[in-house]
Amino acid sequence: MPDALPPHPDRHAPVMLPMTLTVNGTDHTLTLDARTTLLDALREHLHLTGSKKGCDHGQCGACTVLVNGQRVNACLALAVMHQGDHVTTIEGLLGPDGGQHPIQAAFIAHDAFQCGYCTPGQIMSVAGMLAELQAGVPSHAASDVAAAPAPTDAEIRERMSGNLCRCGAYTHIVDAVRALSGGADAQASASAMGTAIATGTQVGRTAAAMAGAVAGAR
Ligand code: FES
Ligand code: FES
Repeated sequence: MPDALPPHPDRHAPVMLPMTLTVNGTDHTLTLDARTTLLDALREHLHLTGSKKGCDHGQCGACTVLVNGQRVNACLALAVMHQGDHVTTIEGLLGPDGGQHPIQAAFIAHDAFQCGYCTPGQIMSVAGMLAELQAGVPSHAASDVAAAPAPTDAEIRERMSGNLCRCGAYTHIVDAVRALSGGADAQASASAMGTAIATGTQVGRTAAAMAGAVAGAR
């Protein structure tokens, strides 16, 4: 029986890859270990520390960002997988004048956080779920998957169930999301929001419309 081959001396050496990530509308060229997660690329290499590392294995949602308008746990994605994609982080979710985004305003108005550690992930998740509601994507809470989903509390709780809050701010988070998605004006604004998020580049442009929805829902 032949002897086993000796281990390759460089088998644990990192494989460094050049990559370009588009984050909040700006292209960033980096050379990273191929194993670098999207979360670590954002936090450690681009210094966008708004996305939080809670569990680092897909359990808490603190790292939620939008990739081409859809919610993603950045700790579970490799950065190299997302070249050519549009990544939106909490830092990119701004109003048209660079101020507060309507989702942020709703969280403040409804006291939807305590320590705030989970909040960036919660807010990005709300941005993604508003687009999902508008697109008619069904959830586990839907009794009729062919019908347009209504933003009921059960739907909101189900759709936000991937975002944990150690402070237990869930009730107020539901209040904030209900205010954003409840009325006819809010639905129209959510439509604009969903369309903008889908482009991955112009989230802020619909902030004024969403702000009207938030003000009307208070
Ligand atoms: Fe990504 Fe917890 S840090 S899900
Ligand atoms: Fe503290 Fe959610 S506000 S963990």
